[in-house]
Parts: sequence; structure tokens; C-alpha cells
Amino acid sequence: MSINIGIDLGTTNSCISYLEGSQLIIIPNPEGSRVIPSIVALTQDGKNIFGNIAKRQFITNNLNTIWGIKRLIGRKFQSDEANKMRQRIGYEISEAKNGDIKIHLGDKTYSAEEISGMFLKYLKQISEDYLGEKIGDSVITVPASFNDAQRQATKVAAEIAELNTSRIINEPTAALIAYRDKIKKNGLYAVYDFGGGTFDISIVEVNDEIYKVISTSGNTFLGGNDIDSKIIDWLLDEITKEIPIDISKHKNILQIILQKAEKAKIELSFNEETIISIPYLYHFPDGKDYHFQKKLTRVQLEHESVDIIDKTIELIKKSLEDINITPDQIEKTILVGGQSRMPLVSQKLYDYFKKTPYKDLNPEEVVAQGAAIQSNIIEGKLKDLLLLDVTSLSLGLETKDDTFTKIIERNTTIPTKKTMPFTTISDNQRTVKIHILQGERELSSQNKSLGYFILIGIPLAPKGIPQIEVTFEIDANGIVRVSARDKETHLSQSMKIQPSSGLSPEEIEEIILESKKHEEEDKIKLRITQLKNQLSEELETVKIFYRQHIDKLKLNEQNEIKNFIFRTEIALKEDNLDTLESLVSRMQTYKVKINNILISEFEN
Ligand SMILES: Nc1ncnc2c1ncn2[C@@H]1O[C@H](COP(=O)(O)OP(=O)(O)OP(=O)(O)O)[C@@H](O)[C@H]1O
Ligand SMILES: [Mg+2]
Repeated sequence: MSINIGIDLGTTNSCISYLEGSQLIIIPNPEGSRVIPSIVALTQDGKNIFGNIAKRQFITNNLNTIWGIKRLIGRKFQSDEANKMRQRIGYEISEAKNGDIKIHLGDKTYSAEEISGMFLKYLKQISEDYLGEKIGDSVITVPASFNDAQRQATKVAAEIAELNTSRIINEPTAALIAYRDKIKKNGLYAVYDFGGGTFDISIVEVNDEIYKVISTSGNTFLGGNDIDSKIIDWLLDEITKEIPIDISKHKNILQIILQKAEKAKIELSFNEETIISIPYLYHFPDGKDYHFQKKLTRVQLEHESVDIIDKTIELIKKSLEDINITPDQIEKTILVGGQSRMPLVSQKLYDYFKKTPYKDLNPEEVVAQGAAIQSNIIEGKLKDLLLLDVTSLSLGLETKDDTFTKIIERNTTIPTKKTMPFTTISDNQRTVKIHILQGERELSSQNKSLGYFILIGIPLAPKGIPQIEVTFEIDANGIVRVSARDKETHLSQSMKIQPSSGLSPEEIEEIILESKKHEEEDKIKLRITQLKNQLSEELETVKIFYRQHIDKLKLNEQNEIKNFIFRTEIALKEDNLDTLESLVSRMQTYKVKINNILISEFEN
């Protein structure tokens, strides 16, 4: 029987969990980390490394150390978010032909889905090694406010990792599922999920075994990283007060500052002040070194980052207003995500809800735990609770004059489906183009374009006569599907959707094949190295024996061994797997022969 896992694929950290009996277990990586840095890197000698090991070389090899991929996935190169990321990262990104982001690693470029897929594959490997068996189903979590492009991209990453993923679920919802045993009272619960890269707030109505999300809101570019950025800006300011150098242009130094900033931020959750010290920060051409050291207090940090925390409170207000709920109606506010450990967060939440926020489970692990439970519920292995989630973004169409017409409003329970009639606007019109968008803004151009849907093969008819039914669907993963049917001909196969970005199914297939090919190559390389090591060790024994016992061997035996030594020495200089395998097996017969000679010698 295979084991199901839940994966919290985080911006900074990821976490894997599974259910053993009724116990939720976290799978640590080989370095023993329960919370695994979401980092993919390439070593100087061309090996892919992940997690803690990748994080360790972050400073020395920042050009080939990819972090924060979740902030890039499903986005365009020209987006504000990608632009902001570009100022901070040490690795290179560039624009793909379709406007997507290309990530440079070594001498190759990858899509964000591929990098995320490589990382998920590593998580899958860790899990299989830990459990000693194959993974069954997996549930992967995403921020509630992820749009369709980001969800699709995450699904593609899971495909690249060859994971069976039954569902993509929302992080705050997953977290609440993990709290199911702790929730004793029916009512409304607010899940405040503040991670490294994203913020989500979900209001959930708990009614015995039914968990119904009734409102959700968030920002996929608001998280701990942004508080780090505030500290970085402050540090850069302080540095320029002391030396006339623009450090932000020095990517490698910036990565050091980045790590120091995060460390200071975390320390200030426990202490009132901390010293940030960066010895040898800058080396001047005249040989002088600049060392940096400054005190940062919690008060100062709060002053720098209060507007970010206030943004999260604004989003809570919005999500409560959406459903006409007042803060006092909320039973408990549950803290999720590492950044929710900041004391100012609890204080602001207290001010708003007039109740101390609740945290009884590890905020960095609950999301993965909830995902593990959900995977078992989906597969029917666990009859626990019924989860009803909502879409966080409205889905609609572009109509006249850049107007955005909503078809499915946000906070609609998913899965959901809505059918709309369409017709032609000119005589004998054969095609209709439908532009699908997601978002809350009035103008189409201000919302996220999901792609064009082109109805083709409409029968010749005067305008307004053809009746085409277009069905808009959001599945349980929050992923959008659009299908159309001509009412008269019942034809539906002639319609096709053209994604505005992302990888095509053919490209995904190719990536999987390519990685399989390398997997095979890598295995062969490893086998060759192992065989060579074994062979060269054993060859030494044979050589010594040959030198010492040559006189006791028959002439044909002498020639045979000499020939074998000669062939082995040549094979050790080449990389031929078959030759090496056959020499290793020949070696075994020699070892037996040699042993026999030695034994008979000893007995005589
Ligand atoms: N004690 C602490 N005080 C303040 N911030 C903290 C503390 N511990 C961790 N963090 C911050 O929490 C963030 C990581 O949290 P978490 O692991 O929940 O995020 P993530 O799951 O990677 O991101 P996301 O959910 O946004 O994709 C980092 O920004 C980290 O600096
Ligand atoms: Mg998270």
C-alpha cells in the first residue's frame, strides 16, 4: 500500500507530512530539517542540489542559487512583481518569447514550472527514501489568492516531478483542517496566513464536520520577504552614510545583507534589540576593509514594517465586509506561517479582533499537515470532514470598451459552473473570440488575462441566429476550464482554448522525457564510477599476486593474467559500462583462482 503525502510548497520553506494511524508525521530531509528551504542550486561541478545544502552555498554561488521561485511562477517577465524580485536575486532571469520568465541556471534556462518541478521531485525523493516505499497520492497547497495561471503552473510543476496530485488546495484552508481536533465549537474562524512570500486571510464557517470557506482575500506578493526588504533598505541607507558605495549594485554583498536582515528580523521576535554585524562587508582597492555594525531595535523594525502589517489588516477588513461580518463575530483567529510569529502581528490582530490570536500547532507545519489529511479524505481513506472552499478571484470576460464582465463572482463555492449564451454580431460569422480574465478591477486590461477562447466552425447564418453555449467552470483545484457547444449542431470539439502563457502539454512532455533521459545518464555515470573504484582496487591485489607468484603459474595462466591486467588498465581509462561490467565479473573468477592457489600454498 502506498502512502499519501501533503506538500506545503512555500516561498521560503516547504514541508511534507503524512498520516500514520491518526498521527500526523512530518518528513524531515536528510539534513534533519522538518521545514525545508525552497532552494534549488547548481554546484560548480554541475550537480543539482536542494534545500539546506543549496542554502549553504547561497552566498558563495548566488548566481546559481534559485530562491523565491513561488514569487515568479505564473507571472510575466514584465510584471511589477518580477521586476521587484530582479532587484534582490543573485541569479539571472530573462524574458521568454511568450513573455514568460526564463531562469538561468548554469548554461541552461528553465521555466519557473521546471525549477519548481525539480524541487518537488526532490521532495518526492526525500519522502520515498524516508518511507521506504512509493508515494501514492499527494495534495499540494497554494495561496488562496493564487490566480489560475499560478495554479496551473503549480500543477505543471507537480507533473514534471511525476507526482500524482489529486488536488491543489488553499493554504489557509489546509491549516484549518489540521486544527480540526482543536476546534470544539461551531462558528466563524479566521485563518491568518502570513508566510515568506504571501498573505492570505480566510473566513471559515465550521458546522460540525462541514468546513465552509465563506470569504477569502490576500496578496501573493506580501510576506516576510517584504519585511526583510525594509530592513535591507534601512541597512543600505546606513551603509551609504558611512561609505560612498552603492552596495545594491553588488549582488553578492546584497545576498549577505539579505540573510543578515532576515536573521535580525527573527531575533527581534524574541529580543528587544539585536546587533547586525557584517565584517569585511566591502574591500576597497587600496586594501582597506569596511566592517559594518549597527544596532536594530524591535521598535525600529516595527516602525519600518508597520505599513506591511497594516496591509494585512486592511485585507481582513475587506474579507469581513464582503460577507457583512463584524470582527466580534469571529470565534478565533488562527495564526499560520512563519511571519505570523512577529509580535506586532499578534498586537495588531488583538487590536482589531479584541481577542488574543490562537496558535497551538507549529505555524510552519500546519499547512502540510492539513494537506496530508485532505489527501486521505479525497481517497476515501479517512472520513473526517467535508471541505467547501471558494474562489478568491472573480472570473469573467472582456466585453465592449475594455469592460470586464464578471461571470463567476469571487467567494463562490468551488467547484462551480456557469453557462452563458453567445451569438454572432455579423452575418455568416464563422468564429467568435472570447477573452477570459480573472480579477476584481473594472477594466479588462487591469485584470489577469487567462487566455483567449476561440469558437470556430460556427454554421453560416445571419447575425444573432447561432446559439452557442459557453460554460465556465472552476474545479476543486481553483483551476478554470472553458468549454463551448453550438446548440444547433451540438458540436463542441471545434472550440479551442489558447493559453496566454505557460508551457504547452508538448513542452511539459518534453521536459519530463529530458529529465528521464538525464536520470538514466546519471545512473550510468554513477555505476561506471562505482565499477571503476571496485575494479582498480581489486586490480592492485591481482598485480601484487602476479608479481609474487608468477613462477608458480603455468605459462598459459601467466599470459591470461597479464592479458587481463592489460585490458583492465585500458578499461579504467575509458567509460564503457559493458566492458567494465564484464571485467568485474571476470575479476571474481580470478579472485577465486588466486584464493585457491594461496590456500594450497598455505596448506603445503
Ligand atoms: N520568529 C519569527 N519572527 C518573524 N518572522 C519569522 C519568524 N520565523 C520565521 N519567520 C519568517 O517567516 C517566513 C517564512 O515563513 P513560512 O515558512 O511559513 O513561509 P512560506 O511557507 O515559505 O511562504 P508562503 O506561505 O508565503 O509561500 C520568512 O520570511 C521568515 O523570515
Ligand atoms: Mg506557507
